[in-house]
Parts: sequence; C-alpha cells; structure tokens
Amino acid sequence: MCGIVGYVGLQSALGILMEGLRRLEYRGYDSAGIAWLDNGEIHVLRAAGKLHNLQAQLPATHSHVGIGHTRWATHGKPEERNAHPHVDNQRRVAVVQNGIIENYRALRDELTAQGCVFTSDTDTEVIPHLVSLYLQQGHPFLEAMRLAVSRLEGAFAIAAIAADAPDEIVLARQQAPLVVGLGQGEFFCASDTAALISHTQAFLALENGELARLTPLGVELYTFAGQRVQRYPQRLTWSPLAVEKGGFKHYMLKEIHEQPAVLRQGLESHLIEGQIALGPVQELYAQVEHIHIVACGTSWHAGLVGKYLLEQIAQIPTHVYYASEFRYAPPPYLPRTLTIGVTQSGETADTLAALSLVASRTLTGTPWLLGITNRPDSTLGRLVPYLIDTRAGIEIGVAATKTFTAQVVAFYLLALDMAHQRGMIDQEKLELYLANLQKIPNHLEWILETQTPAIEQLAHQFQDVHHVIYLGRGINFPIALEGALKLKEISYIHAEGYPAGEMKHGPIALLDKNVPVVAIAMPGTVYEKTISNVQEARAREAQIIGVGTAANLEIPDLFQVNLTVPEVPELLSPFVTVLPLQLLAYYIAAQRGLDVDQPRNLAKSVTVE
Ligand code: F6R
Repeated sequence: MCGIVGYVGLQSALGILMEGLRRLEYRGYDSAGIAWLDNGEIHVLRAAGKLHNLQAQLPATHSHVGIGHTRWATHGKPEERNAHPHVDNQRRVAVVQNGIIENYRALRDELTAQGCVFTSDTDTEVIPHLVSLYLQQGHPFLEAMRLAVSRLEGAFAIAAIAADAPDEIVLARQQAPLVVGLGQGEFFCASDTAALISHTQAFLALENGELARLTPLGVELYTFAGQRVQRYPQRLTWSPLAVEKGGFKHYMLKEIHEQPAVLRQGLESHLIEGQIALGPVQELYAQVEHIHIVACGTSWHAGLVGKYLLEQIAQIPTHVYYASEFRYAPPPYLPRTLTIGVTQSGETADTLAALSLVASRTLTGTPWLLGITNRPDSTLGRLVPYLIDTRAGIEIGVAATKTFTAQVVAFYLLALDMAHQRGMIDQEKLELYLANLQKIPNHLEWILETQTPAIEQLAHQFQDVHHVIYLGRGINFPIALEGALKLKEISYIHAEGYPAGEMKHGPIALLDKNVPVVAIAMPGTVYEKTISNVQEARAREAQIIGVGTAANLEIPDLFQVNLTVPEVPELLSPFVTVLPLQLLAYYIAAQRGLDVDQPRNLAKSVTVE
C-alpha cells in the first residue's frame, strides 16, 4: 500500500527521500510527494502518477529534514491535491500517513467549524490541522502530535514535520508498519526496511500505540500516554543486493529464478544433522488436535497445500480461512487448536487482525499462534510467539513467487515433523521424504534451463486470449488457483482455477475453442481422473495445455502443448507444477508490455482492510 520515508541528519534530505521512495515503489502507488524544511519554512512537492513526475520537478536544495510518501488511493482519487504530504492552512505542519482514519468525517466537520479549510478529499488532511491547533495552543511538537493521535480512530502510521521544530520528525504508529533506521548523526524512518537498507541495517520497529521523536541527536520513543519507552534496535541480515534486479529485466523474473537457491537455503536452515528444526513450535506438537490456517491471496494458496500435507501426512484436521472472512466470522473456539498465519509481507492487515483475534480468545498461557513468513522483522514477527522464517528474503515483484514456494517448504517440514513426532511416519519414511525434498531445487533448475524457451513461445499464443481455465486436482488444485491468480494479476487476462472434477458442474459451459485450458496432470492418485476431466474439456474444442511429465505427450490427441516437468512423488509435485505457471504468466504479461513488477491497482503489502 502507501509508503512512508523520512530523514533527519547532516546529508541533503531530498536525494535520500527520493531513493527511499524508489525502493518503496514495489509496494504499489498512484501518486507521490515530499515535504522538507528550509529556513524555518515547509516546502511541499507532489505529483500524480509515477515517481519520475515528482523527480522532474525536484529543486536543488540542501534541506536536512524531510518526509516522503507514495500513495495508494483510499479516500479521494489519485490526483495531485490528494497526494501526501498534507499541510495545515498556515503551512506550519506537514504530514504523511499510511492507513485509514476512520473518524475523519467527524474530525473534518469539527475542524471546519473552527475555520480550517480543507483542500483534499483525504482522511489524512485532518491530521496536520489537528496538530497545528495544538501547536497554536502552545504545546511542543511531540505533545501536539500526541494529542492529535489520541483523537484518531483507525489504523495508521504517521510521519510529520513542523516549521517550529526544524530538526525533528515525529512518528506515530497504530496497526500499520513503521520503522526507524539508525545511522550516525542521522536517522531515518520508513514503512518498510527495504527503503533504508542501503543506508543502515540497524532498525527499531515502532509498536502499536507508540510515538517516536527523531533528531540528529537520537531517537526517543513514547507511548500514546506519554510514557518514555526504551528498546534495543534489531539488525537486518539480508543484504542490500536483495533489492537490486541483478541483471534480470524484472524483479519477478529474478525471483522466479531464485527459487532453487531459496529452497536450498530454507532446507539448510531448518535441517540440522538430518533432523527437522523448526524451533519452539515443536513443544506444541503432542498437544495439537486441530489446525487453522489464516492467510490471503497467494499465501492462502500455500495454506491450501499446507492443509493437504497436514491432513494427509500428519493426519491433523486442518481448516484454511481467508483472513478477511475469519476476522468477522471466526469459527467457534476449539481448544488445542494451532492457528497458523501465513504472509510474505508480514504486514497484511486482515491476517494480523485474524491472529490478534485468536490471541484475544486465549484465556491462559501463550497463544498457540505460528507465523510463516520470510519477513521475521515484520509486525507478524513481533505478534506471534512461534515463527518459521522461510528464509526467502525480501520479495519486490508484486506477484508472489519465491515466497510462495518457500511457504510451501515450511508446510512440508511442519507436516513431516509433526507426523514423525506424533508417530504417524517412521524414521525411514521421514528420511525418504526429506531426500526427495532435497532433490527439488535441482528439478527446478532443470525446468528453468530446459522449458523456458517453450513457455516463452507459448506465451505468444496468448496475445488475443480473454479467458483461461486452470484445472488441477488433489494437491495440485491450489496450484491451479495460484496459476490463475498469477495470470490475472499481471496480465489482466481473466483466469479461473477449478478442481478438475468440478468442471462438469457448471464451468464447462464456458469452454469453446477460444478458451484455453491449462491442465495440471501429474502422476499419482488422481492422474487418470484428471485425464478424464481434461478429455471432457477437449471434447468442447478447448485448447489444452498440459503441465506434467513427458508421459502426457503419449496420450493421443489430448494436449496441444505440454509444459514438461520431471517426475517427482505426488506430494512434492506442487513445486514443479507451479514454476511453469509462474513463467507462463510472466512471459504473457511481459510480451504484452505490461508493468510486470507493479501491476495496476495492486500493492505488495496490503496494510488496510
Ligand atoms: C499475489 C499476491 C497477493 C498476496 C496477498 C497476501 O501474487 O502477492 O495475493 O499473496 O496480498 O499477502 P501476504 O502474503 O503479504 O499476506
């Protein structure tokens, strides 16, 4: 969603702010702006559209304090007047905000009655007016911000500067991410560490209900009640290179290619001397009777694969919920339930809210909440007592790829470990599963090396396609959903994933020669059944693209094209079937000349409901 960046120190702020905003571009935005202090005055520059529109107007100035913002419109169209920063009528305060101020209408009426004139349609604009009124009453900047945020309802992260406090940035956080980066004689803030990683690896994350005051002399943390807070910073382990494209045309393509290495890294860090090591969550295994998984989008698909594994290998009844549904209609409380939150950003508002709801229902002891993420530095990392770091590192392309496969690895390890420790599989079987899992990175390399040209070629045939159906069964049904999601989000082609056996109950009516069907047909329990379902689609003249082993090509007159993958045990097949579908979506979108890494209307980190 929106991105925040701020700087106070000895260097020139504008370049640092612009670089930070560029690093936040991947989160999705429709307008951008910056504000800085110069000779006791606030200056603001804003532009609709991409960052180069802002860059083109940038003045030469050496201000040492500033804030910046990339906006993803919630209240008000993506026009310059709605872009942040917003200022009060005297231009003494400038504010950027991520989130939603739910009571902004009432505040706006109240402030208008007091003479404030509003120039935007945003909820954010109430904040500079409020802060300004408190400043006029004689409160220092930090206190004015504290009083202002105590009037706000909703989820927000705020950074503000004031003309009367020329060396300060004041921050506030309530249910939206905000971190402080620590340098020497200079301090930064951002909604995502990625914005600052080239300047510092030492970070301090604000908690809900906290304010921070940044000056060149240091950082002070306070609660909204005004109490001082002391906390040690954390050090980030990933390198600044992770946020570069590394010679690839798009981040998405780079991240697709990173998957073999990511899987190796995930396995290496969670297998110690041949034993699965997932940390403290192992202490719960013996007691767990049910598992609930909460997630959104691609992470929800990883959860569906997880359910299959946890039920089929570990025999534990597992439900997967959309976090946005769970939070308002949670299932009745079930004792001895482990709730797993899956999220690549670690900041998805719905997933965090669902997990918090579960925590609030825990009457005694530590809540049984397990997080699966590649961002242990995120809000999720601080919310849950048990965490599996998938080790996928930061992902920049909006379409999740490597983080998905890394989440699936985490589910394999969890299911195998639980199954083994609860006596469902013996040591020999465990070792066999692990040995096969360790071969997956090589299989992925084989697909990348040998199948990419055919996939690129196939992508050309999708130039005039408007609808695509993805079919899969069993453990590959979630992969059909994921393949369809990848295609629609970056190529804007309508695509649907279905369980292959469900086609004849309605969706088959959609098929004709203009609607290609991508059919995942891998050897295993449902292979013959899937082939029969695909025959039904073929009989409606649909063009059939197979994803499966070379054996598919031996079936007469069924698959026009087969995206060939190596034969692997059925339970491991999602790794090899999802990769060609990621590549197919990528090449279709790239050949259409679309903005693959920042598809329209989407955001990498969905921090609002
Ligand atoms: C799709 C995609 C989204 C996310 C969803 C949840 O490629 O990236 O569907 O999966 O917004 O995000 P996280 O995993 O950050 O909770």
